[in-house]
Amino acid sequence: MTENILVISGSTRAGSNTTLLVEHLFGKDVNHIELCKSHIAQYDYDDNYAVEDGFQNIVNQMLLSDLIILATPVYWYTMSGYTKVFLDRWTDLVTTCKDKGRALKGKRLAVIAQSTSEAMPQGFELPIKLTAEYMDMKYVGEVFWDMRRDLDQSQKLQLAINQWTNG
Ligand SMILES: Cc1cc2nc3c(=O)[nH]c(=O)nc-3n(C[C@H](O)[C@H](O)[C@H](O)COP(=O)(O)O)c2cc1C
Repeated sequence: MTENILVISGSTRAGSNTTLLVEHLFGKDVNHIELCKSHIAQYDYDDNYAVEDGFQNIVNQMLLSDLIILATPVYWYTMSGYTKVFLDRWTDLVTTCKDKGRALKGKRLAVIAQSTSEAMPQGFELPIKLTAEYMDMKYVGEVFWDMRRDLDQSQKLQLAINQWTNG
């Protein structure tokens, strides 16, 4: 894989199952941000964020990437709270930071979800797919893994991910 891949994961804990899966699929050298370490505030209508807020730093890394992957556990049938707060902050990219939002145009966006169920909840990927469309990004797909299974059986995921990395 020669292109720039950024994985942004949304578990509430470091060293999570999500991170385990990401590292199994991409190795430890992939550019991987764990949102629980990034101090991202809830969206603020008044654009009043602390200087240490981590959102812009992640956006700057997104702008340097060709493929952006949101990796999230399934929490109550949907994406994790960290992932949702992160997506809510994309509102900044269509209001106060429009230039950065426009610069995401054409970048590829994908989803990795995992839980301890057999399948991804119906419609799970839809909010992210629609967000990609709204941002003029290219949504390239989603994969799901049941963490009760042995990760060594996850070759099918790898094949799907290879398709994303080939554009
Ligand atoms: C708050 C919370 C909600 C959860 N909701 C679901 C759910 O709706 N469906 C499911 O299959 N598993 C659910 N689980 C189980 C997690 O998806 C599973 O344990 C996952 O591997 C945790 O990933 P993490 O370590 O990256 O956070 C939930 C776990 C938590 C902590």
